[in-house]
Amino acid sequence: MSSDTIESVMEESRKFFPPEAFAASAHLKSFADYETMYRRSIDSSEEFWGEIASELHWFKKWDTVLDESEKPFFKWFDGGKTNICYNAVDRHATGVKANQAAIIWEGEPGDQRVLTYRDLKREVSIFANSLKALGIKKGDSVAIYLPMTPELAIALLACARIGAVHSVIFAGFSAESIRDRVLDAQSKLVITGDGGWRRGKMLELKSVVDKGVEHCACLEHVLVIPRNVSGPRLECQMHEGRDVWYDDIAAKQSSDCPCEEMDSEDMLFLLYTSGSTGKPKGIMHTVGGYSVYTYLTSKYVFDLKEDDVYWCTADVGWITGHSYIVYGPLQNGTTVLMYEGAPNWPEPDRFWEIIDKHQVSVFYTAPTAIRAFMKWGDEWVDKHDLSSLRLLGSVGEPINPEAWMWYHKHIGQEKCPIVDTWWQTETGGILITPLPGVTPTKPGSATLPFFGVDAAVLDAEGNEVDAGLLAIRKPWPSILRGVFGDEQRFRDTYWCNWDGKYYFPGDGARRDEDGYIWVTGRVDDVVNVSGHRIGTAELESAFVEHPAVAESAVIGVPHDIKGEGLVAFVLLRGTDTNGSDQLRKELNALIAEKIGKFAKPEKIIFSADLPKTRSGKIMRRLLRDIVTGKELGNITTLADPSVVENLKSKCAE
Ligand code: WTA
Repeated sequence: MSSDTIESVMEESRKFFPPEAFAASAHLKSFADYETMYRRSIDSSEEFWGEIASELHWFKKWDTVLDESEKPFFKWFDGGKTNICYNAVDRHATGVKANQAAIIWEGEPGDQRVLTYRDLKREVSIFANSLKALGIKKGDSVAIYLPMTPELAIALLACARIGAVHSVIFAGFSAESIRDRVLDAQSKLVITGDGGWRRGKMLELKSVVDKGVEHCACLEHVLVIPRNVSGPRLECQMHEGRDVWYDDIAAKQSSDCPCEEMDSEDMLFLLYTSGSTGKPKGIMHTVGGYSVYTYLTSKYVFDLKEDDVYWCTADVGWITGHSYIVYGPLQNGTTVLMYEGAPNWPEPDRFWEIIDKHQVSVFYTAPTAIRAFMKWGDEWVDKHDLSSLRLLGSVGEPINPEAWMWYHKHIGQEKCPIVDTWWQTETGGILITPLPGVTPTKPGSATLPFFGVDAAVLDAEGNEVDAGLLAIRKPWPSILRGVFGDEQRFRDTYWCNWDGKYYFPGDGARRDEDGYIWVTGRVDDVVNVSGHRIGTAELESAFVEHPAVAESAVIGVPHDIKGEGLVAFVLLRGTDTNGSDQLRKELNALIAEKIGKFAKPEKIIFSADLPKTRSGKIMRRLLRDIVTGKELGNITTLADPSVVENLKSKCAE
């Protein structure tokens, strides 16, 4: 660690004020503006949200802004009719605005495409008509498994346009993960591609989908998009009667496709996310509230203007890409940059080259990426002119102060505010965040709640405390509408504390003397690996499918780059307690097959036993302390305290 970073950690209480030049031209210019608007958003919440919603297009105005009668199933803008695709695309595809770039795309090999709002409307309409030609109607579920090409954004918008419910599956997931999601959502169509570039290699997508959908009776078609829209297709096995090439079907479609008039509470999409138990759950978001909330957060958190070139480096396969690559920024009529590949391809300065080349002004990335850039060295950054940047963002996990300071100094050149945004798949949009022209920031804190968000740090009884559980006390427009097909799980997961009065996100937090919130991480068995949520239960149930494995326990431990890494303890059947490298390989392959390569543990430790309480519960905290070499407190609740010594020596191996 350099002396710089040591200093920054010690100066955690340091405050950075929004640069005057930034505030002068920001949508919101002073803390007093924020306070007034925030108070109104809480005290006269329906009036506030009604006014904001009026900035968007509605085919029919809503009857009520918020209906809480069936809490926790809230209804926002009920009775209203709108379409998020209309608000994101059609609204901007008229007059001179139609000629503005909506999407600037760069492929990993360096190929580029620019789609104006006019082009985007045309492409989305043709895509939407292609979906109709395949028999997709309003309310049908469509799974999407694509690389980061413009067609991924277009596919989402096309589904939204005709009222089909999209369920995007990140292209790093395995065939089994695809199957689970297609079956759970009862998807009629899977949209995939013939490939996509990642670190100089072609991603195999079609063959993974083929394997995944083998026994999915609900599936009618697989739509295959060529990676090179105007070039030759890549070799793919096509199943007669089921599989269709997108360019074949698109060639026959009209570019005119009116937007379906959607009820505000019609489902917009499902997105699967990991929890502490069982299989990933389908988080449900609906049209109206999600439109309004992603529109407003994008406008104020990223201070978006028409002439910005906004780049969020997430994959559209995660919620960040849904809300802050596609729906939020496009509803604001800005220019969105999309990049297909890896940050270090061909060299570790690819991101900085892109920023310089396309004059990116707003840049939104994740702490894990920032830590990787720090490791690769400042010289890669220094080679490029980053003066087009005016605002930086961070999302996905708590940002450590030294990463924040590096980001501020090297990428933001000490002139760009940093917005550290806390939110989740379930929240649909950013809930806790600084506003760039307004909020003094502290490295490592997501600071204060956004408009309409009543955030608190509570103990189990619901008292406000300095350190405890994060709680949200009022519903906001893009709150999840449930877990698809599992009402009980929805109630048990999010409404299990405080007599079901407040939303429980599963995170711990503390609040400082200025009322700033510092999110400390998950308090459940969900591990945040490189900003990706992985349920330890998913890995554990995968391991026990191996015939040699009797039991396993997976924990998250601190990791320099990934934030958290996974460590797996595996108990074998029979008398072998040592395992072998071969077995380790097989277990890693099993995880890749069941979940995806990104969920591979850092370390697999074969052990003779696991620390359990007398009632048989695995003491994960103890496992974490053993791995990280922490002082072990009281272990008298253990059924067999000798287990600890054994595990310690295994970890030291
Ligand atoms: C964590 C990603 C601290 C948190 C948008 C949350 C954060 C989970 C931050 C959601 C942040 C996300 N500071 N922690 N700025 N952003 N998290 O659903 O634990 O993939 O519950 O949504 O990431 O992850 P998800």
